[in-house]
Amino acid sequence: MQASSFASLPNELVAQLLATSPKAELHVHIEGTLEPELIFALARRNRVTLRYDDVDALRRAYAFTDLQSFLDLYYAGCDVLRTEQDFFDLAWAYFERAAHSGVVRAEPFFDPQSHTARGVGFEVFMPAFIQAAKRAQDELGLSVGWILSVLRHLPEDEALQTLRAAEPWLDHIIGLGLDSSERGNPPEKFARVFAQAAQLGLHRVAHAGEEGPPEYVRGALDGLGVERIDHGVRASEDPALMQRLAREQVPLTVCPLSNVRLCVVDSLAQHNLPQLLAAGLKVTVNSDDPAYFGGYVNDNLLQLFAAQPMLGAPQAYILLRNSLEASFAADADKALWIAQLDALWRDAGGAA
Ligand code: HPA
Ligand code: ZN
Repeated sequence: MQASSFASLPNELVAQLLATSPKAELHVHIEGTLEPELIFALARRNRVTLRYDDVDALRRAYAFTDLQSFLDLYYAGCDVLRTEQDFFDLAWAYFERAAHSGVVRAEPFFDPQSHTARGVGFEVFMPAFIQAAKRAQDELGLSVGWILSVLRHLPEDEALQTLRAAEPWLDHIIGLGLDSSERGNPPEKFARVFAQAAQLGLHRVAHAGEEGPPEYVRGALDGLGVERIDHGVRASEDPALMQRLAREQVPLTVCPLSNVRLCVVDSLAQHNLPQLLAAGLKVTVNSDDPAYFGGYVNDNLLQLFAAQPMLGAPQAYILLRNSLEASFAADADKALWIAQLDALWRDAGGAA
């Protein structure tokens, strides 16, 4: 379907279509969906003492100045996750919200090292993630593919150990990712673990060009062989890289509210997503750590469109379709979801 055929749809209808259309979420950290209310509930259940008196006090602490200031709180929040039931409750809460937002495919990250470092092993969180994904498929019609993400502030040897520990669970893991503190931790540091992931038949993605320079995006593509770039917004500083990303149609999983909250950009109105799209890059919109950044995937879409007069119906349709095309789901599933997307937009009057 031609995106340009939607140019005349009014803004209210575009907002409604953004919220209700089938979509994929390709950049969300399951630990980043841990809402303050659930942190307090799990702390009570597990008799963990928190540094904050109540939910409001915790929420007030979510005033970040950069990626590291967020990560410090994000890893601290993980401490309440102790039992299989805790991880199930976490994942299920996200899947319910996602399904109600039109998400038909989710590829969430999980950070094993945030848990194994506390003595909570794969045998605790993997059964929970597997069961939650199965129930999401059965009860919500939501397709899930888990991506194991390794922490780049730690040595590569620990990432290699983590991938080895995951081997019994690989039937339930679709890919390897790379997250945590970007500056000073270039992708090439993880070349061996990504080569092993390729041998194991895993998809590969990496955070790059969030706070780190455009060279880290090149490093992720050439040094790690990644198929998608998580964030990638700083690619716009490098015209040759922009041309390459457009030519190779490398998907970028952009997270607008995250970029504002972590001071990567000053405001949604100044976000460069319209420029990335206009340059022909395969951009998608995602929530990253929605419990910390003030919104889930539809909040990201709706708030960005409200803030950016350059974004209208054609861009909305392309972003939604990109999310489905850039997913690692089976081609037959993707074709079905895209047909559903097209039918919805045709009925809304876009095929005139
Ligand atoms: N960037 C890097 N690491 C992360 C993020 C992020 O946005 N969220 C959780 N871990
Ligand atoms: Zn992220």
